[in-house]
Amino acid sequence: MFRSRFGVAGAGRPRALPGPEGARRRVEGRGRPRAGGRLQSRPTSRISPLAGARHTAVPDQPAEDATAPALARPFVKWAGGKGQLLPALLSRMPVALETYYEPFLGGGALFFALAQDPDHAPRRAVLNDANHELVTAYRVVRDEVRALVERLGALERRYMEADADGRSTLFYAVRDEAPAEPLEVAARLIFLNKTCFNGLYRVNRHGRFNVPHGRYARPRILDCGGLLAASRALAHAELTCADFETACAGAGPRDFVYFDPPFHPLSKTSRFTGYTESEFGRAEQLRLKRCIDALTERGVPLMLSNSPHDWIVGVYEGAGRYRVERTPARRAINSRGDRRGAIDELLVLNYPVERGRGRLESLA
Ligand SMILES: C[S@@+](CC[C@H](N)C(=O)[O-])C[C@H]1O[C@@H](n2cnc3c(N)ncnc32)[C@H](O)[C@@H]1O
Repeated sequence: MFRSRFGVAGAGRPRALPGPEGARRRVEGRGRPRAGGRLQSRPTSRISPLAGARHTAVPDQPAEDATAPALARPFVKWAGGKGQLLPALLSRMPVALETYYEPFLGGGALFFALAQDPDHAPRRAVLNDANHELVTAYRVVRDEVRALVERLGALERRYMEADADGRSTLFYAVRDEAPAEPLEVAARLIFLNKTCFNGLYRVNRHGRFNVPHGRYARPRILDCGGLLAASRALAHAELTCADFETACAGAGPRDFVYFDPPFHPLSKTSRFTGYTESEFGRAEQLRLKRCIDALTERGVPLMLSNSPHDWIVGVYEGAGRYRVERTPARRAINSRGDRRGAIDELLVLNYPVERGRGRLESLA
């Protein structure tokens, strides 16, 4: 396993995972302020009529409860999620970095993989996505996880106690809501993500979630341990909702940026464009390339993942300054299971990799 300047266990630096006691303090509102963040949030506010029962039993010491998983992981399923690529990504990560930037956060698979490991947890993380509801959900998981657990617990009970028609009615009633309050936004997004068809988030061109109801017998609407672990991992993360260029503008030579933009489609039928109301077409891919060039000129180490489309390969190989590699992946965003399959993922790095570890000395 590679070691990282992100933080060595026991070396005296603050960790991104402060441990159960730190997590409990933060949940209770006495946590320390974080960059770009705020102190622990207000208490539970308006309860949606859809939430059913007003109170759900939450353990007094939730971080220690038996359901808490050892590892933090994405709390939403997201198109293009990088869970299965983690070994390939981690083995190419350079060591000893200050701030981890992820401008296209999505489900945050790589961030959570880094954060859950005390040896590699970034001291600071700047996480960004253009999807406002998603970023709101991350902020609520970070700052109001206890209230979120209550809300999702109530929703889960209502859903599980209903018959098939009742479940469908509840799903579409929640889908039709347009809440403004962050806690409601987060609960709605997670509820829909867990109960919709294929468990994915997709919006139409007006930015409205438009996935139909799924038919899971026992969807895990409330994953208490998973949410608490995610909340601990996010404790020191700055969460922004901006365009990717703005999101990584502050990166310097001791930082690291991981770009995972919307996959450039290999065919018309493989196109997935439902992350936000905006498209991410060739002009956006070229704007990203210019952003990557500018960061490279400033000596900022970075890695990009994308599709192995000839055009994308040409854009980066043609520049003559990047390491362009392919790694096997299996894509799962086609709604038809028979069209999901093995497709390589393209990885673009601006630093050398030796013996499975990024090496930064020769960068810029
Ligand atoms: C491929 S997904 C990221 C998946 C993520 N790495 C994971 O493990 O789940 C791409 C993300 O980029 C976001 N996005 C699209 N356009 C963007 C932009 N211009 N700036 C920032 N984020 C954007 C989408 O909302 C989406 O969540």
